[in-house]
Amino acid sequence: MRLDKFICEIENCTRKEAKDYIKKGLISVNGNKTKDAGFNVEEESKVFLKGKELKYTAFSYIMLYKPKGVVSAVKDDKDKTVIDILPQKYKRRGLFPVGRLDKDTTGLLIISNDGAFAHNSLSPTKHVEKEYGVTYQGTLPENAEEEFLKGIDLGEYICKSAKIEVLAENKAKVTLSEGKFHQVKRMFEALGCKVTELKRLRFGKILLDESLKEGEARYLTECEVKYIQSLKGE
Ligand code: URA
Repeated sequence: MRLDKFICEIENCTRKEAKDYIKKGLISVNGNKTKDAGFNVEEESKVFLKGKELKYTAFSYIMLYKPKGVVSAVKDDKDKTVIDILPQKYKRRGLFPVGRLDKDTTGLLIISNDGAFAHNSLSPTKHVEKEYGVTYQGTLPENAEEEFLKGIDLGEYICKSAKIEVLAENKAKVTLSEGKFHQVKRMFEALGCKVTELKRLRFGKILLDESLKEGEARYLTECEVKYIQSLKGE
């Protein structure tokens, strides 16, 4: 790959900015400064920008603590998207949210550019569990646990077996292995309650990192990425 293109890909900058870095002598390849924007970068080349190594990885896996008020899309005419609010250091071309959380839902959202991972982890055949913290209004029926286990009837669709654990008055934890549109809200509605706060706490084996604040992100750890690879491979 040409050096200027390589820099754009990793730094998520324009070709002009990449050329400026090169012109200013801020780039070294394999220990030598180069001013040749067309220099051929190999897979094993060591490229540094102002002493920082630019490492090429085909895929990025990012955990975003989604705040309220942003939509789970790449682009939107009306609202800010999860990609718009992603901290600059994580931005690169081709990123998208893996699945959707409603605009008013908070919590764990994975952002990636790995289409195969997204496809597999969202496929109903993979049964990837998602866990939500729910605050609701109303009183759940006594047999709510049974209803969840049996599969709640949403009218046009009967949900797969799910789990509910009531934690306190009007607070519960729900675990699902599917992801239909507004599913948790509709399940509570079907039992006569209204969800007022919804937060995703877990996606498969990946837990929301509670050291993140809303709107913050981090790369997935090696261990979490291994889990992601296992979903691709299964
Ligand atoms: N279920 C919902 O109702 N909304 C979400 O954002 C996620 C699951």
